[in-house]
Amino acid sequence: MIEKRMEELIKLINKANYEYYTLDKPSISDQEYDRYIQELISLEQDYPELMRNDSPNVRVGGQVIDEFKKVTHEIPMLSLGNVFNQEEVIEFDMKIRKEVEHPKYVCELKIDGLSVSLLYKDGELVRGATRGDGVIGEDITHNVKTIKTIPLTLTEKVDVEVRGEIYMSKKSFERLNEERTNNQEELLANPRNAAAGSMRQLDSKIAASRKLDCFIYHLPNSMDYNIHTHSESLEYMKKLGLNINPKTKKVNNIDELLDYIQYWTEHRDSLPYEIDGIVIKLDNIDDQARLGYTAKYPKWATAYKFPATLVLTKLKDIKFTVGRTGQVTPNAVLEPVRLMGSVISKATLHNEEYVLSKDIRIGDIVSIKKAGDVIPRVEEAMVDRRDGTEKVFKMIDQCPICNQDLVKKDAAYYCLNENCDAKHIEGLIHFASRDAMNIEGFGIAIIEEFYNLGYIRELNDFYILNQKQEELVKLDGFREKSVGNLLDSIERSKTNSLEKLIFALGIRHVGSKTAKILAKHYQTMDNLMNTKLEDIAQIEGIGEIISQSVIDYFNNESNKEMINTLKDYGLNMNYLGKSITNNIITGKTFVITGTIESMTRDEIKERLEYLGGIITNSVSKNTDIVIVGDKPGSKYDKAKELDITIWNEQELLKNIK
Ligand code: IVH
Repeated sequence: MIEKRMEELIKLINKANYEYYTLDKPSISDQEYDRYIQELISLEQDYPELMRNDSPNVRVGGQVIDEFKKVTHEIPMLSLGNVFNQEEVIEFDMKIRKEVEHPKYVCELKIDGLSVSLLYKDGELVRGATRGDGVIGEDITHNVKTIKTIPLTLTEKVDVEVRGEIYMSKKSFERLNEERTNNQEELLANPRNAAAGSMRQLDSKIAASRKLDCFIYHLPNSMDYNIHTHSESLEYMKKLGLNINPKTKKVNNIDELLDYIQYWTEHRDSLPYEIDGIVIKLDNIDDQARLGYTAKYPKWATAYKFPATLVLTKLKDIKFTVGRTGQVTPNAVLEPVRLMGSVISKATLHNEEYVLSKDIRIGDIVSIKKAGDVIPRVEEAMVDRRDGTEKVFKMIDQCPICNQDLVKKDAAYYCLNENCDAKHIEGLIHFASRDAMNIEGFGIAIIEEFYNLGYIRELNDFYILNQKQEELVKLDGFREKSVGNLLDSIERSKTNSLEKLIFALGIRHVGSKTAKILAKHYQTMDNLMNTKLEDIAQIEGIGEIISQSVIDYFNNESNKEMINTLKDYGLNMNYLGKSITNNIITGKTFVITGTIESMTRDEIKERLEYLGGIITNSVSKNTDIVIVGDKPGSKYDKAKELDITIWNEQELLKNIK
């Protein structure tokens, strides 16, 4: 009787875990789930002799081992060869095409974690092992069992070995490091190290507390299951309840393959976990067998590696720059190094606190990181490579340009001198920059030169530069054509839509997104200039600080005068885009509870965020709308209690169309 109930509970919980963690479609409420877990825990406490191996409560950890047992991989766990650019991908495809006509490939994300082999007997997880040297790995079953996306029992009672990657999500990694900061423990370098470190623990409680995940991507013995393509093997493993990466895609030719690589090169930052490349696998398993293996790699697969985003170099000096707001920033002067296709010789160090907290010293070997378009930054000092000649950082207390004493506000230091040249120059650079007026050709060097020569001292001066054409063509390095191009791009900038001008003015706290909201709302510069605090503060997405800053800016007579001069010079002062649509979703805070039939949670979240909604986890008085699906949890009751607007599935679909 008791045994039967335990079995029943285990089945229910495992099913719920699979639906929640793998399918992202829970069918029972959080409370129901907790009730099952509690009931099982108390039965297991009362009848420890009946505790089963596949009890989901092993997930909470607790099993401690004395040492890692060695495991021999019957089929070696191979690594992958690498390709680094488009040409090499094309070459890989050409080699395959020598053996296979019209090859089809499966493209997968290359998850940055540690590989694992999972062995199921009779559908039950009996062993998890690391790759080790490929032939001999280590038994980490006790830790593997704590990972919720690894089923303890499969949906069929089969004997099967599968392989995949254990990883830590970006969010769990951040949380873990936050926790470590609070406990004054050393920070972990990246999610991969954090995941690998967790698996190397003898006490499984540590792994259990680390919130790890796993994607399965390989069935070594597919032929034994009468499977002839890799894509079918993924389908089969999915049917068994294993977690397969949903971004995996079968492609029919090299163009589709390159598109997939391009897409994920651009979008990898949007994933909740880190990837370091794309894995390309020949789909047909008979063809795979024909192509075979080198000593280390399969010839039928390869890994396209993203360009490195982290490199090491020497920090030669720290120089200070003054931004347009007067903020003084320490910047690293680096020994030039190649990173993501460009040579880097400067990187930001943010502020005093950043440098001191990371103990970055002049002369250190440091790691430099660059993500997307973002300015490279110094990540870490390689402390163990110090030789004692490094100099400890000290913040300056006077402006490096005008020598005025700096003033500290929060973590930053400011030069408050209105006439500080550095501030003016930065303001001009910002005005001409791409997201602002987009005056092509006006890079930092030219602006500095024109400023020093007195041609451009204020924003207005751009638009009377044509009066100096004859002088400009005589300058070193300039010719009629290059000056003509500069003047043309200044002329073109006059027709920009209003939001670009608002952003270009450099009003404190007004970024390009806020500028757009203001332009859409006010439609003309005059409307914006004459607005009142109460009016701005009501606009969705504009907070108090921004509102006050805009008002302060336009209360300054010289700013108004400057804008009127720009108007006289012929700059467009109107919003040229569509007028604002009063979206029901933009700026609203949402909570989702229960199962929505037609969409997964991630899809709902993505759509709402796209429309400007904010998605949170718990219901509070700040929640605007609660989306309620089938079998909702306590969030539904809380929403009713707080009288919050509730949408069912139909209402959701209607509003996000
Ligand atoms: S396939 C024979 N697929 O990358 C099959 N590996 O650099 C070999 N990895 O050791 C592995 N994501 O740890 C494969 N979708 C994926 C992967 C993947 C990450 C790791 C794996 C492998 C390493 C090779």
